[in-house]
Amino acid sequence: MNTEILSSTDLNIMRCASRLKAGELVAFPTETVYALGAIATDAQAVKKVYEVKSRPTDKPLIVAVAKKSDIQKVVKSIPKKAQILIDRFMPGALTLVLDRADVIPDEVTVGSESVAVRIPDNAVAKKLIELAGAPVVVPSANTADKASPTLAAHVKDDLDGKIEYILDGGASEIGIESTIVDARTEPPTVLRVGGVTVEQLKQAIGEVKTLRQDARLSGYMPNAEVLFSAYYDGMTENICKRYDEITAQQKTAVIICLDGNRDCYGDRNVYTVGDSYEAYAHNLFAVLRKADGEHYDAVIAEGVNPEGLGESLIARLIKLSGGMII
Ligand code: TXA
Ligand code: MG
Repeated sequence: MNTEILSSTDLNIMRCASRLKAGELVAFPTETVYALGAIATDAQAVKKVYEVKSRPTDKPLIVAVAKKSDIQKVVKSIPKKAQILIDRFMPGALTLVLDRADVIPDEVTVGSESVAVRIPDNAVAKKLIELAGAPVVVPSANTADKASPTLAAHVKDDLDGKIEYILDGGASEIGIESTIVDARTEPPTVLRVGGVTVEQLKQAIGEVKTLRQDARLSGYMPNAEVLFSAYYDGMTENICKRYDEITAQQKTAVIICLDGNRDCYGDRNVYTVGDSYEAYAHNLFAVLRKADGEHYDAVIAEGVNPEGLGESLIARLIKLSGGMII
């Protein structure tokens, strides 16, 4: 199969919607990361998603709808706090886990009675889902061993020959995945921190439960060893020291840093990711892919404060480093 990257013209979005309706898969942009879509009510199409992504078959898929009034079509009921979160954060980088309606097949939820639902805040995604006329599964459009894609080119790297079309919407604005909240529990439970921060959730609904992010060695792992620095005075000196130890062993290394710290690293290899945590999040997966492409042995990522998106960055970097914090 030839995989084509299509510009997001109305005509191409229509073309992709028809392919979805015909039971095919299409990749498309969302504001968090690129999605691999299939009609959620089409069990056969959903099965293909697992095959194409080499996804473990016990990992349920998120379902996207185009507008708020469509949420009730995929869930049984919407508790009060869930409604507040919907009004406050949707469309956006929030996914809610609720009781699933019967239209959602077991293939989506892997048998669970819950379904995760979101509304992407991206005009191309919304248009596509609207035209498809049905809820669409929206897992990240990478293979299981790769980082979530934030560009159409990343999707092509992973899924070339496996899908027909990738709609190109430029770089994903946020760059990390949605925050997932189980709204069936009281208080609601944060299952994954992402584009919406825990502080924002608390402002909207008060108390939330958070699960400790564990450093499981599963999911995407870059080829390079990832070292993640704690955030403290003297962080940049410590990173330089570790970098020099690694390169003294004839290994190659690159530092992921904020623009403001660039000069601290002299002529060492660096990838700068901008001047804010938003920019760091936006660029993180892209620079990790770059490090793989450039065959670095080690990547040393600067630490951040657990404030705002800093918390979501820390959760991802702990996982990527397997808990190797320097
Ligand atoms: O930002 C995002 O959410 C992106 C964009 C493309 O929509 N999608 C995404 O999907 O990150 P994926 O498949 O890479 O991650 C979905 C996560 C998985 O960790 C899965 O276990 C969890 O959502 N999930 C899905 N359905 C669930 C459910 N019913 N209950 C609990 N967790 C669920
Ligand atoms: Mg994923």
